[in-house]
Amino acid sequence: MNDHYLAFANSSLGRALVEGLGLPRPPVLERYVAGSPAFSRGDCLIGMAAGGELCEQAGHVLAAQDNPVWTVEQDPARAAIQACELEVKVLRGEELEKARLKTVIFDASGIRNSAALSELHRFFHPVIRHIAECGRIVILGRIPELVEDAAARTAQRALEGFTRSLGKEIRKGATAQLLYVAAGAEKQMESSLRFFLSPKSAYVSGQVVRIYPSAHLAAIDWQSPLSGKVALVTGASRGIGEAIARVLARDGAHVICLDVPQAEKELQAVAQAIGGSTLMLNISDAKTPQSIVDHVVGKHQGLDIIVHNAGITRDKTLGRMSLELWNAVIDVNLSSEERINEALLSAQALRHNARIICVSSISGIAGNLGQTNYASSKAGVIGMVQSHAQAYAEQGITINAVAPGFIETAMTAAIPFAIREAGRRMNSMSQGGLPVDVAETIAWFASPASGGLQGNIVRVCGQSLLGA
Ligand SMILES: NC(=O)c1ccc[n+]([C@@H]2O[C@H](COP(=O)([O-])OP(=O)(O)OC[C@H]3O[C@@H](n4cnc5c(N)ncnc54)[C@H](O)[C@@H]3O)[C@@H](O)[C@H]2O)c1
Repeated sequence: MNDHYLAFANSSLGRALVEGLGLPRPPVLERYVAGSPAFSRGDCLIGMAAGGELCEQAGHVLAAQDNPVWTVEQDPARAAIQACELEVKVLRGEELEKARLKTVIFDASGIRNSAALSELHRFFHPVIRHIAECGRIVILGRIPELVEDAAARTAQRALEGFTRSLGKEIRKGATAQLLYVAAGAEKQMESSLRFFLSPKSAYVSGQVVRIYPSAHLAAIDWQSPLSGKVALVTGASRGIGEAIARVLARDGAHVICLDVPQAEKELQAVAQAIGGSTLMLNISDAKTPQSIVDHVVGKHQGLDIIVHNAGITRDKTLGRMSLELWNAVIDVNLSSEERINEALLSAQALRHNARIICVSSISGIAGNLGQTNYASSKAGVIGMVQSHAQAYAEQGITINAVAPGFIETAMTAAIPFAIREAGRRMNSMSQGGLPVDVAETIAWFASPASGGLQGNIVRVCGQSLLGA
């Protein structure tokens, strides 16, 4: 579906008119194009608060790209990344005035009390007006719940408020995220840094991600991270599911595209376009979990990635909602996922270092009028991810979820105009996301290098005001 206002506001005539009337101009977001450099192109700035423990590892990741790297005057980052084979220059004077910073990393893990939070001001204040269009900011900290000292835990928790506010201030399609890294998980940061410093995270902002130690640290080909992997995507015949299937196939996976038999024609077309295969099943049917197990074990000797994307809405206010509508939504969106996971796990059909990725919704976080059934199902998906994350991780399997906001699909095209416009604009990007934005986030979770991510719920919502 087209966002006519976005197109108009960015045309030469529209731009002048929109600016003249003082209306917001949604930026044109940079998105990843297959084959282009993984990192966003442009100047990169790195800094840290004294005592930071994550900067050196971030420096090693930056050494894998060829953008110029800067730091600010007297920043301890320079000494911390000495061993990283990086040429780091100091940004000051005229160079600072002219700077357009595309990526910024700040290691805040050394902030151990509230007074030291001023380090955030020291580093960001002089540079914040120099963030480029579609720039990327990543702040690194320690998982507060795992920090023993109360003052340090308090200070690390404060980073959330800072990051989310920064996301709202920088605008121009730029994003800000906070990565909380557990002690011992430093080497697991790379897949997340690569994702959040690239155009792949175009519609993800203000998010907080927790990274844990993992025995899996695969050396992967970053251009084709899913090579040799088998993925199953439910609801793959259109919309977000189709985009997920295409992105996972682009990243090298063989994708089994699953959808209801009524969608056979569209499903075949998607599978054919990406060299995948099809499975026509209704996920609500009692026999479906076993059919999936039989298929993946019989044809592929197991599964590496399952994406629970299929979902339905049957909106009515609760007083008007029949039990049938209630049950249909809970069953497709939640119970069927539980049944499929159980069947795959008990048949040991998921391979080691496998990924379960669920599609929740901001409706499940914020609630929504007319969606008691849908919001319950999507909040239940979050519950399912959080309840199983630790036990699955012990079996070498990760489970995470994305929670899309307003994404331009057939589902949102059906929303009445006024509500649709509000949904589109009420976020830091002033626009809806595209199915590919959800798909890129899922591909990051799916990567064999993302073993440190478990139990995360990442919103793909342009930092929507809803449920924030
Ligand atoms: N579009 C958005 O803005 C948005 C926002 C938040 C969450 N989501 C979630 O993202 C997912 C995809 O949404 P979409 O907008 O692409 O929806 P869509 O309606 O365009 O596609 C859903 C797909 O799931 C399939 N499906 C439905 N019931 C099924 C069943 N019982 N068995 C097998 N397949 C079934 C459909 O045939 C369809 O191909 C859903 O889980 C939805 O709740 C979407």
